[in-house]
Amino acid sequence: MRRMARVLPAAAAVAGIAALLFSLPPARAALSPARQARAQQAFLAYCAMCHGPDGAADGEVAVALRRSGIVVPHLDDAARLQTVGRTGVLRVIMQGGGHTGRSNIMPSWGTLLGPGLAEDITDYVLDIPNRRPGVPEATIQKYLKSPPGVPAEGRKLYVYHCSACHGAGGRGDGPSGEVLRRKRNVRPRDLTDSRYMATRTDKDLFVVISLGGGHLGKSVYMPAWTVDLTPAQIKDLVAYLRALSKTPARP
Ligand code: HEC
Ligand code: HEC
Repeated sequence: MRRMARVLPAAAAVAGIAALLFSLPPARAALSPARQARAQQAFLAYCAMCHGPDGAADGEVAVALRRSGIVVPHLDDAARLQTVGRTGVLRVIMQGGGHTGRSNIMPSWGTLLGPGLAEDITDYVLDIPNRRPGVPEATIQKYLKSPPGVPAEGRKLYVYHCSACHGAGGRGDGPSGEVLRRKRNVRPRDLTDSRYMATRTDKDLFVVISLGGGHLGKSVYMPAWTVDLTPAQIKDLVAYLRALSKTPARP
C-alpha cells in the first residue's frame, strides 16, 4: 500500500509529461502514401455516403436524412475540426455520436475499424480542408462505376455495404474483414474465387445476402440485408458478384 502511494505520484508525473509531449503539435507525422490510400478507400466506403466524398456533407444518405431533419456535419470545415481537435475527432469516430453528445445517427466505428485504421481515418479527416479540390470527381466516379453488363447501382451498393468486410476488390480483405479474422477467426468469403462462386446459383446468392450467413449454417458475421436493401438492390448486387467472380449468371 505504502509502495503504491509512492509509485502513484511518480506515475502521475510521467503521465503529465507524456500528455504535455503528446499535446505538442504536430501530434503525428503525415500518413505514408500507402496508409493514406487505405484511409481514403475506407473513407469512401464508410463515411462518404453521409459526409460526402470530400466531407461536404452531400452524401446520398445525407440527402435522405435531411428530409427527416437530421443534419450531417461538414468535415471540410477547418475551424470546426480545430475546435473538436484530433482527440475529439478520434473519439467520435471510435465511439459514435450517441456516446459523444451527438446524434446516434453517427455510427460508432471502433470495433469495425480497429484503432489503427481509426487513427489513420482521423488524420485523413483532419487533412480534408487542406486537400483542395479534394478527391477528383473522376476518381470517385471510377471507384464507384459498375463494370460493363452490371446495373449502374451494383458497384456502389457493394462499396457502401459489403467492401468493409469483403474488400474493395472482393478478396475478403476489407478492414473489418481483417478485424474479424484476427478477433473471431472468421474469414469473409473471397468473392473473386471463380471456382467457388460457380457452384452457387443466383438464388443461393440472393438468399445468403438477404438472410445472412446464420440462416444457412454459415458464419453469423455475414449480415442479413433484407432490412437495408430492397430485393431489386440485392439482385443488382448478385449481378455485380458475377462480374467480380467472372462467373456467368446461374438462374
Ligand atoms: C449514417 C450517416 C453517417 C455515417 C455513415 C458517418 N457519419 Fe459521421 N456523423 C453523422 C452525423 C449525423 C453526425 C452529427 C452528429 C451530431 O452532431 O449530432 C456525424 C458527426 C461526425 C463527426 C463530428 C463532426 C463535428 O463537427 O462534431 C465526425 C468527425 C464524423 N462524423 C466522422 C465520420 C467518419 C470518419 C465516418 C466514417 C468512418 C462517419 N462519420 C460516418 C453521420 C454519419
Ligand atoms: C461484417 C462483415 C460482412 C459484411 C459487411 C458482408 N459480409 Fe458477406 N460474408 C461475411 C463472412 C464472414 C462470410 C463467410 C461466411 C461463411 O463462409 O461462413 C461472408 C460470406 C458471403 C458470401 C458467400 C456465401 C456462401 O454461399 O458461401 C457472399 C455471396 C457474401 N458474403 C456477400 C456479401 C454481400 C453482397 C455483402 C453486402 C451487401 C456482404 N456480403 C457484406 C462477412 C460480411
